[in-house]
Amino acid sequence: MIDLKFDYNNAIGVISQKEVLGFQNEIINHYKSLKDKTGKGSDFLGWIDLPDEVDNALINRIERIAAEIRSKSRIFVVVGIGGSYLGARAVIESLSNSFSHLNSKDGNPVIVYAGQNISEDYMVELLKVLDTFDYSLTVISKSGTTTEPAVAFRILKIHLENKYGKEAAKTRIIAITDKQRGALKQLADQEGYETFVVPDDVGGRYSILTPVGLLPIAIAGFNIGELLGGATKMKTHIESSPNIEDNPVWAYAAVRNALYNAGKTIEITVNYEPKLFYITEWWKQLFGESEGKENKGVFPAGVGFTTDLHSMGQYIQDGLRNIFETVISVEKPHNELKVPLDEKNLDGLNYIAGKQLHEVNHMAETGTTLAHVDGGVPNLRITIPEISEDTLGQLIYFYEMACAVSGYILRVNPFDQPGVEAYKKNMFALLGKPGFEKETKAIYSRLSD
Ligand code: PA5
Repeated sequence: MIDLKFDYNNAIGVISQKEVLGFQNEIINHYKSLKDKTGKGSDFLGWIDLPDEVDNALINRIERIAAEIRSKSRIFVVVGIGGSYLGARAVIESLSNSFSHLNSKDGNPVIVYAGQNISEDYMVELLKVLDTFDYSLTVISKSGTTTEPAVAFRILKIHLENKYGKEAAKTRIIAITDKQRGALKQLADQEGYETFVVPDDVGGRYSILTPVGLLPIAIAGFNIGELLGGATKMKTHIESSPNIEDNPVWAYAAVRNALYNAGKTIEITVNYEPKLFYITEWWKQLFGESEGKENKGVFPAGVGFTTDLHSMGQYIQDGLRNIFETVISVEKPHNELKVPLDEKNLDGLNYIAGKQLHEVNHMAETGTTLAHVDGGVPNLRITIPEISEDTLGQLIYFYEMACAVSGYILRVNPFDQPGVEAYKKNMFALLGKPGFEKETKAIYSRLSD
């Protein structure tokens, strides 16, 4: 049974129930073509069966290696970009204590990230930290040729070898890449690194339930079996509920397309729990790379409330009316803290004394939702009972399937990303990469005009 709920009552008016249900037949057909592998991008549908297909042998191997790495590492570096790091980061940050990097007693390595940017200052500052703590790393790249993680890994590999010696360094590196192609695969084979495979038929942004996400999540100390279990629950629910009315995945895919057709071209995912920040980042990549093509697609944006009510709140309430919001609402916190009573009440807060902070947060959520709806911003709500491996697993699969079907409704291929190549071509030309001589000449002459 799934615990995730989806509510779109606060969008009715801008769109009608009839418009939403109008997607019913199309959704049935799109889901069928995903299952039968007859739609666009059908070579990249391995994610559909991942929740049941990740077998015990793989889970055991991930957990065994995670235990080894945990026993010798105060820090674990995840080297990757896009789909090769966002999923792991989303789950790890959602489940971690907000200040775990300051708490050396919880026994879990601190997870840090590299290769998701090319900032010199970021890298130098990271190396300085790694000088003083024991660490290990995973380098994740499906293609094995992405520049950002390749550069970071080259630097970190040398740092590890200088710190521990060549042979010992090898036992601290895990490569996650294609089963046979790419420079990383070649390097890992030659050096004899522990290696995991990214399945051929799973694209980067759909790879969170492969070792790409599972290994770092296990090393961070979280239960990957429960994460997969949550995803399986959502998968089972999807299989048994073809109707929009009782399937939150289909309802979300239908509603966001109805809103898009009504001119609401920006979706803002909202959280009231800062730990969910990277869930929004992962979601932005999933939907942005899947739908944003052929001059189409809802633009995915994100805010964290109540923080951003003091920055973006004005625009959302009053700006251009082309936006809708989707709140990820968490019913229960893991802790309890009440607003204390103060006899003097100089700050005037005694009217909320005795209330849990979560209740205050929840009232902020309800009040904001109503204000934004009144201001012409349709509001969708995804509710989970609490943040846990199980509910995150449900949420991940919910979004993955909704994104695939939503992309098919838009008539795009949700599983390719031709647009991300354009910047790479220019960067390679500017840096003088062999094979780009013509482009190098052209780009420098353009810059000197
Ligand atoms: O979703 C995708 O395919 C991309 O975001 C990739 O994950 C990202 O570009 C990294 O690619 P790679 O894993 O090949 O290094």
